[in-house]
Amino acid sequence: MSADGGPGRGVVVTGGGQGIGAATVQALVQEGYRVVSLDLAEPTAAVPGATYVVGDVTSTDDLRGAVQAATEDGARLAAMVANAGMNRPGPLADLSRQDWDAVMAVDLTAVMESARVAHAHRDGPLSIVAVSSYSGSMALANRTAYGAAKGAVNSLVRHLAVEWASDGVRVNAVAPGFIDTELSRRARALGLQSEQVVRARVPLDRYGTPAEIADAICFLVGDRSTYVTGAVLAVDGGASILGLPLER
Ligand SMILES: NC(=O)c1ccc[n+]([C@@H]2O[C@H](COP(=O)([O-])OP(=O)(O)OC[C@H]3O[C@@H](n4cnc5c(N)ncnc54)[C@H](O)[C@@H]3O)[C@@H](O)[C@H]2O)c1
Repeated sequence: MSADGGPGRGVVVTGGGQGIGAATVQALVQEGYRVVSLDLAEPTAAVPGATYVVGDVTSTDDLRGAVQAATEDGARLAAMVANAGMNRPGPLADLSRQDWDAVMAVDLTAVMESARVAHAHRDGPLSIVAVSSYSGSMALANRTAYGAAKGAVNSLVRHLAVEWASDGVRVNAVAPGFIDTELSRRARALGLQSEQVVRARVPLDRYGTPAEIADAICFLVGDRSTYVTGAVLAVDGGASILGLPLER
């Protein structure tokens, strides 16, 4: 039940244990949603009021369980945020087939399955938000599997937006640029993205914060975006519209 006594609005956020997902859980709880995170790991800092389910987005049963938890007590499924993601960076020539498959399973197939499970449980207007990436449309060396999966996510949301429009389901993506999380810290530690090179590519001259991505996700989840579907919203400080790198 929600604060106003009506049936609550449930949202599942995959990968809500840390980074962008954790900031999204926090923002959605503040907006009054009943929020369930599905993550491989326990949260680094649990948000009071949120529910944390430990599980794997590559398991359809785990996705169904998270949706069930979000709709307990008669709450309506308002949104699915398919945020969980991972990367196995390195030259494609050296990438094992197993690593390629692992990236596709989490970064593409699980996004499709999250959307499909939510669509099957819809009981009114539903918003599906996938977390894509700058590298879904821009090319970076040593991220071929990740970039191919994210590019496919951009196409997936457009196709599903058309296929499910008549079902009352909106499907959009947020495409973050360079955001200060564990994922980008690992890339920096591997020498794949120095802060200096990143800043030369970002007109706003800094990394983004997880909360800034969460704000865009909240917009796409909620009632302020009821005429938006099939969009891939870049939230990247201008990185994807820059011509030449900036010399500062
Ligand atoms: N950080 C960036 O710069 C950046 C840029 C573009 C896109 N993204 C995307 O944003 C999303 C979130 O990334 P982040 O930076 O917060 O990463 P992160 O590594 O900090 O957090 C990812 C979370 O997803 C969870 N997760 C991974 N595999 C999972 C699985 N199989 N099942 C359930 N949970 C799983 C992890 O446990 C972790 O809590 C990802 O889709 C990522 O590709 C991030």
